[in-house]
Amino acid sequence: MDPAVWTVCVVLLSSCSVLGSNICTSRGVSTCKQCLAVHPSCAWCFQESFGQGGAASSRCDLKKNLLAAGCEARAMESPSSRLQVLQDVPLSERASGATADVTQIRPQKLQLTLRPDDAKQFTVKVRQVEDYPVDLYYLMDLSYSMKDDLVRLRTLGNGLAEAMGRTTSNLRMGFGAFVDKPLSPYMYITPPGAVENPCISIGTICLPQFGYKHVLSLTEEVSRFTEEVKKQRVSRNRDAPEGGFDAIVQAAVCKEKIGWRQGASHLLVFTTDAKTHVALDGRLAGIVQPNDGQCHVGSDNSYNMSTTLDYPSLALINEKMSENNINLIFAVTSHVVPLYQNYSELIPGTTVGTLSDDSGNVIQLILDAYAKIRSKVELELLDVPEELSLSFNATCLNGEVIPGLKSCSGLKIGDTVSFSVEARARGCPKDTRKTFALKPVGFKDSLEITVDFECDCKCQEQAQPDSPVCNHGNGTYACGICQCHAGRLGPRCECAEGDYNPAAQDHCSSGPDAPICSGRGDCVCGQCVCHSSDFGKVWGKRCECDDFNCLRYKGELCSGHGLCSCGFCQCNPEWKGENCNCSTRTDTCMSSLGLLCSGRGQCVCGSCECTQPGAYGATCDKCPTCPDACTIKKECVECRHFKRGKLFEEQTCARICRDDIQLVDDLVFHDKNAVNCTYKDENDCVERFQYYEDASGKSVLFVVKEPDCPKGPDILVVLLSVAGAILILGLAALLVWKLLVTIHDRREFAKFEEERSRAKWDAGNNPLYKGATSTFTNVTYRGKD
Ligand SMILES: *[C@@H]1O[C@H](CO)[C@@H](O)[C@H](O)[C@H]1NC(C)=O
Ligand SMILES: *[C@@H]1O[C@H](CO)[C@@H](O)[C@H](O)[C@H]1NC(C)=O
Ligand SMILES: *[C@@H]1O[C@H](CO)[C@@H](O)[C@H](O)[C@H]1NC(C)=O
Ligand SMILES: *[C@@H]1O[C@H](CO)[C@@H](O)[C@H](O)[C@H]1NC(C)=O
Ligand SMILES: *[C@@H]1O[C@H](CO)[C@@H](O)[C@H](O)[C@H]1NC(C)=O
Ligand SMILES: *[C@@H]1O[C@H](CO)[C@@H](O)[C@H](O)[C@H]1NC(C)=O
Repeated sequence: MDPAVWTVCVVLLSSCSVLGSNICTSRGVSTCKQCLAVHPSCAWCFQESFGQGGAASSRCDLKKNLLAAGCEARAMESPSSRLQVLQDVPLSERASGATADVTQIRPQKLQLTLRPDDAKQFTVKVRQVEDYPVDLYYLMDLSYSMKDDLVRLRTLGNGLAEAMGRTTSNLRMGFGAFVDKPLSPYMYITPPGAVENPCISIGTICLPQFGYKHVLSLTEEVSRFTEEVKKQRVSRNRDAPEGGFDAIVQAAVCKEKIGWRQGASHLLVFTTDAKTHVALDGRLAGIVQPNDGQCHVGSDNSYNMSTTLDYPSLALINEKMSENNINLIFAVTSHVVPLYQNYSELIPGTTVGTLSDDSGNVIQLILDAYAKIRSKVELELLDVPEELSLSFNATCLNGEVIPGLKSCSGLKIGDTVSFSVEARARGCPKDTRKTFALKPVGFKDSLEITVDFECDCKCQEQAQPDSPVCNHGNGTYACGICQCHAGRLGPRCECAEGDYNPAAQDHCSSGPDAPICSGRGDCVCGQCVCHSSDFGKVWGKRCECDDFNCLRYKGELCSGHGLCSCGFCQCNPEWKGENCNCSTRTDTCMSSLGLLCSGRGQCVCGSCECTQPGAYGATCDKCPTCPDACTIKKECVECRHFKRGKLFEEQTCARICRDDIQLVDDLVFHDKNAVNCTYKDENDCVERFQYYEDASGKSVLFVVKEPDCPKGPDILVVLLSVAGAILILGLAALLVWKLLVTIHDRREFAKFEEERSRAKWDAGNNPLYKGATSTFTNVTYRGKD
C-alpha cells in the first residue's frame, strides 16, 4: 500500500473507508500482543468462530468494527488505560509543632495502568507548609585562615537561632568541623613536632590536623551550640585546597550521628575560604580506593576512613544530597564564589552565598539561602522507567499555566502550586510492573507511582498447547489463533511446509495482478514466508512491512530518534514528527530569566523561533533593537502596581513580571547597576521608578508613590485675567476713540480758523438790520378805471 495513504489512515484513525482499512488492520499484525501495541484504539477478537463466515475480517480492528463483524464483546481483548488514586491525604496548612504528619504533596500514591503508546494525565499539588521544622548543621573549615571566623562564630549562635526562629519555631542546630586528610602532602610533617602541632613553624599552638569531626548533634538547645563552638580551636594544613567534600558526604549519610529528622528541612551550611579537593586528588597521597558514600564516623565522632578513601565525586555528593533531602549552602568567601557557583550548578538544590572575611554576615546569608530554597519548588524524578515518558505543565501563581516546566519559583511559604503530568507508555518493559516517584527537591514527601504496562493479552493465559483445534495437536491455540509448531503452516496448522498447493497462492497477494508476497517472499501453503533482507526485517501477512523504509532526515532513518516500523517512524521519548526530527523539549528554549525564548519568540522543535523583530540568539536573548529595560519594566510597573496596561489585560503579568515592587517616597542610590526610569502614563502624569537587579538575579522595582501630575488651570486666575483683559481692551478702545475725536476736532478748528482768516466779510450788512420803510398793498384797491 502507498505509504501516503497509510499516513492519512493514521491521521484519521477511525476509518479509511476507501480501503476498508485503518491503523489496526493496516499493520498486518498476527498476534494479540502485537495488536495491542499498534494503537490504544485497537482491540483483538479471540472468538474461535470469528472470521470464518467468508469475509476475511482481521482479528485486530477497532472495537466497533469487531462488534459489527460479529465478535462478542466478552471475546474481545482491549484493555483500557486507567488511573487510580490510592492515597490522597489533603495538604497541611502548617506544621504543628511535632514533625510527624505534615503533607506537602498531594496525592501521595497513584496506580497507573497504561497500554503501549497510551497516556494518562494527573495533577500533583505541592505546598510549602508554614513553620516547617528546620535542621541546620554547620560545617566549618577549621584551617588556620579561618581563625577570625571561628572567633566570630562563637558569638553568632544566639543570633542565628533567633533569626531562624522567625521562620520556624522548630529549629535544631548542630556543628561539625573539617580540615583535610591527615596525610602528607596535605599535612605538615616537618619540622619535628609539626604533626602534633602544625603551627610550630609560625610559633603558635594549634590542633593536630584532622579530616572531619562531628562535634554537636542536632539539638534544640542553642546554648549547647555556642558552648561547643567556644571549645573549638583551629588547626593548620599545608596545601591550599581543603578536604571539605569528605565532610559533606559524612554529614549527609551519618543520619543517626547527626540526628537529621525525617520530616524537616535539612540545611547543611558549608563554610570555607579555600578551594576543595575532589575525587582523584587522593592519588597525591597514594589513595586509590574510591569513596564508598557510607558512614564512617566511629564512636570517637571522627571520620575514620579519611586516610583510606579518596575524596567523593560531585556525582556522589549529588546522589547523597538527593537521597537525604539535604539542601547544601555554600557560604564561601568572595574569591572562591565562582568556583562553588560552578559546583552548585551540578548539584541541584544547592545555593551559594558570599561570606565576609570574618563570617560576620553568615546569619543573613543563611536566611537568604533558606528563603531562596523555600521560594522554589522543583519536581525531581526518581527511577522513572525508560519505557515511560513524562511531560509537565506547571501552574505556578495566579493559575497561569506554563507549558513544559516542572518547577516554580518566586513563591512565598504557604503558596500552593500544581503540576499537570502526562505519563505515556512508550513500549513494553520485560517486567510489566514498575514503580517510580516524583519528589519536590529537598522535601521528604513524594508521590509514589506504580505503573502496570498492559502489554500482554489475558487470553494468552488460557493458551492450549498441542490443541486439537490446530490440526490434531500441530500447534498451540491461544487468543483465537493457532501458533503452529515448526514446519507447519496455515490458520489451523493444516499444512506442512513441504506440501505445495497452487490454489493457496491466492492468499499470498492482495489482488489478481499484485505480486505474490509483495515480491519479497515465497508463498508456502497459502502463507507468505518473507525473504530476509540485508537492510532489515521484512514481515506482515504479505511481506508488505519492513523496518527500513521510513522517512529519513539528514540521511538517518527516523532522524536517528526513533524506530522504523512498517513504514512509520515510532519516535523515541522527547521526539515527534513524521521523521522524529522535532524535539518536544522546551527546556532548551528557556532563557536564563526563566522565560521561554526570552518572551521574544516561540519554542519550535526544541529551538527558539524569534518573533520579536531584531531578536536573535539561541533563546532570543540577544536583541540590540528591542525595548530597553525601562520600556519593558514600565509595563510591569503598570500592571503590578497600577493594575492596568497591556500585560494586565492579557493576564500575563504574573509570569512576565516577577519583580518585587517596593513603594518609596523618592528614589535613592541603591547600586551603580540600578536604572532610573521615567515615563508618562495615560493620565499624563510622570511616573518615576528604579529598576535594580541584585547579584542573585532577584529584581526589585522601586516605584515613587506619588506621580508628578500636571496641575489644572486656576479658575480665579482665568476669570480675573479675562475680566482684566476686557477692561484693558475697553479702556484702550476708549482712549483711541478719544484721541481720534480730539485730533479730528483740532483739525476742524484749524480749518475753521484758516477759512475765517481768509474770508472777506461785508461788514456794513447786518443781517439783523431791516429797512425803515415798509410797503403794504391794499387788496381791495383796483386803481382808476
Ligand atoms: C569507623 O566507623 C564505623 C562506622 O561507625 C565503625 O563501624 C567502625 O568500627 C569504625 N572503625 C574504627 C577503626 O574505629
Ligand atoms: C566556572 O565555569 C565557567 C563556565 O563553564 C568557566 O568559564 C569558569 O572558569 C569556571 N570558574 C571556575 C572558578 O572554575
Ligand atoms: C500542557 O499544555 C499543553 C497546551 O498548552 C497541552 O497540550 C498539554 O496536554 C499539557 N500537558 C499536560 C501534561 O497537562
Ligand atoms: C499433525 O498433523 C499431521 C498431518 O495432518 C498428523 O498426522 C499428526 O498426527 C498431527 N499431530 C502431531 C502432534 O504432529
Ligand atoms: C524536520 O524535517 C522536515 C522534513 O524534512 C523539515 O522540513 C524540517 O525543517 C525538519 N525540522 C527540524 C527541526 O529539523
Ligand atoms: C537615580 O536617582 C537617584 C535619586 O535621584 C540618584 O541618587 C541615583 O544616583 C540615580 N541613579 C542613576 C543610576 O542615575
